[in-house]
Amino acid sequence: MINKSGLISDQLSSPFPLCDARHLTVSQQRARIVAPEQTERRVPHMSESVSRPAFGKIISVRGSMARAGLLPESRLSAAAVRATVGRFVSIRTATSTIIAMITEATSENISPNDPYVAVAAVDLLGEILPGTVRAKFQRGVTNYPTIGDAVEMISSEDLRIVYAPTGSDQINVGTLQQDPSVIAYVDIEEMLSKHFAVLGSTGVGKSTGVSLLLNEILKSRPALRIFLLDVHNEYGRCFGDKALVLNPRNLKLPFWLFNFDEIVDVLFAGRPGVPEELDVLAEVIPIAKGLYVQYTSADRLGLKRLDPKSVGYTADTPVPYRLVDLISLIDERMGKLENRSSRIIYHKLISRIETVRNDPRYAFMFDNANVGGDTMAEVISHLFRLPANGRPMTIMQLAGFPAEVVDSVVSVLCRMAFDFGLWSDGVSPLLFVCEEAHRYASADRTIGFGPTRKAVSRIAKEGRKYGVYLGLVTQRPAELDATILSQCNTLFAMRLANDRDQSLLRSAVSDAAANLLSFVPSLGTREVLAFGEGVALPTRLRFKEVPPQQLPRSEAAISTVPSAAAGHDMHFVSAVLERWRGATSHRDVPNDPGTVERPLARTVEAPMLQPSLGLDPDRFSLLKKPLR
Ligand SMILES: Nc1ncnc2c1ncn2[C@@H]1O[C@H](COP(=O)(O)OP(=O)(O)O)[C@@H](O)[C@H]1O
Ligand SMILES: [Mg+2]
Repeated sequence: MINKSGLISDQLSSPFPLCDARHLTVSQQRARIVAPEQTERRVPHMSESVSRPAFGKIISVRGSMARAGLLPESRLSAAAVRATVGRFVSIRTATSTIIAMITEATSENISPNDPYVAVAAVDLLGEILPGTVRAKFQRGVTNYPTIGDAVEMISSEDLRIVYAPTGSDQINVGTLQQDPSVIAYVDIEEMLSKHFAVLGSTGVGKSTGVSLLLNEILKSRPALRIFLLDVHNEYGRCFGDKALVLNPRNLKLPFWLFNFDEIVDVLFAGRPGVPEELDVLAEVIPIAKGLYVQYTSADRLGLKRLDPKSVGYTADTPVPYRLVDLISLIDERMGKLENRSSRIIYHKLISRIETVRNDPRYAFMFDNANVGGDTMAEVISHLFRLPANGRPMTIMQLAGFPAEVVDSVVSVLCRMAFDFGLWSDGVSPLLFVCEEAHRYASADRTIGFGPTRKAVSRIAKEGRKYGVYLGLVTQRPAELDATILSQCNTLFAMRLANDRDQSLLRSAVSDAAANLLSFVPSLGTREVLAFGEGVALPTRLRFKEVPPQQLPRSEAAISTVPSAAAGHDMHFVSAVLERWRGATSHRDVPNDPGTVERPLARTVEAPMLQPSLGLDPDRFSLLKKPLR
């Protein structure tokens, strides 16, 4: 249905209610061109910088909503004819300009005698106040419009004021879709301290967007440290010499930094542990830690030996211990047993520990396992760039790690990032960015490793108090733990095809912003809907062009380029094989009797679609709260 004002009223119920010419049929688009005899009577089109002709007047105001009567199209400029759902308008009041978004347009119940041809409902979002030096935008409305106030399509000038940088803490991420001459600034203080998420199907430009955001953040916050979990080894070259790139070959993460759950996960290759073996481990690990302290304090102070049990360590205390001590403690206990079947348990546990320790793929954990040394300070300062030594960022490439240990490694890293913030009182802020976040913090609690989810969730809930900020990236937001996602107060939503992902997003944002979401399935590559604390208003924008050297590319793709030109590149093939073997081999002990009766190891990849378990409809109330 085309109504008198040129608004296409049946778009309101179509899947694409927003007036984007791409969604209209040819006849619909033609219908929007005003007939020639009407053009003569139209107000001449004014330049963008001059106040535009009103295309409507306020006819009612209620709370943060108002209704505007729209004038017949004969009196409208071409720009105003495009007024429809999702567009911003300016309402000129006596003291300020209110910025609002059209949420509904209708020509129902309008009699021919009315001066208006249609009525638009608008959501009041914020206002431009005349400042002493220059006009300033603020979210929320203090001066409400009155009946008769003029409603105009928003001008570039108003848009520029809305998106103007308010300080040095803004980064330029791209331009507005509505007006490409206006730069979209994101407030990094708000974006970081209240966590952010980048959501979108694969191939829409998420990783490139992350490279863009992080490069801009590095530029404007040189003191911030960034820790990026690079699941596909694609960011290695995006940040030049600002980043330290870690992989299984150069990472040192001593096994004693793993807490009890994590070390069990490693020893049992991602399967639930055998309860009897766990009991033994839980008993001997604290004693092994006590023994370690005993050696070092005896060396240092020449004191009488302490009783290792009285030191008071738990299996989770991050202090060193030696594997030889652990094994001899288990052995000692085994020796005291008469019963052969109980001895088997101890025996299996010892062989499990030895298999892992001797596996070259686990060298990053077990190098120097018996020599020991309390290297925690070195490990932390290297991992989290303290001091940064010109490289404030760490890229943790996960693709080469044995698949069954990736979860526990992520858990250790995430936990240490939080704990360091906690114990240092947030003196040195850290941004923790996690790609493919649905793998590590899945909505379905049976998928993934519990301690990893717990670690991510702690950063999400309490991180900001301790200067630990979270950035989540995922292609399946509906599979991401909803309580964790609800802590992300700035959302960059890119194209999402899946219905469940879209409805999750809809529940996440305020009602006014939800109008923009109908665009989500049709967004182009690089196009983003940005919501929440980091942006002035819910915004449709286009990420900046990222220079080729900052484009995330998988290491394999990078190597393909020279190899195609120079014929066969053996180095390339061996690099591929190394990753392939590292990620797919299963470290099953050939004669491990426990393998059969225990459930299968966790799959690394979460299943495609999971039923949404217990999604709480109010979980996104954070973003539903009125904008400030
Ligand atoms: N901002 C951008 N600038 C330049 N190219 C981009 C940009 N965003 C996306 N692209 C192109 O789109 C491709 C896919 O983007 P990518 O970030 O890998 O998507 P995703 O991580 O969502 O799968 C990139 O290889 C790049 O060529
Ligand atoms: Mg990607």
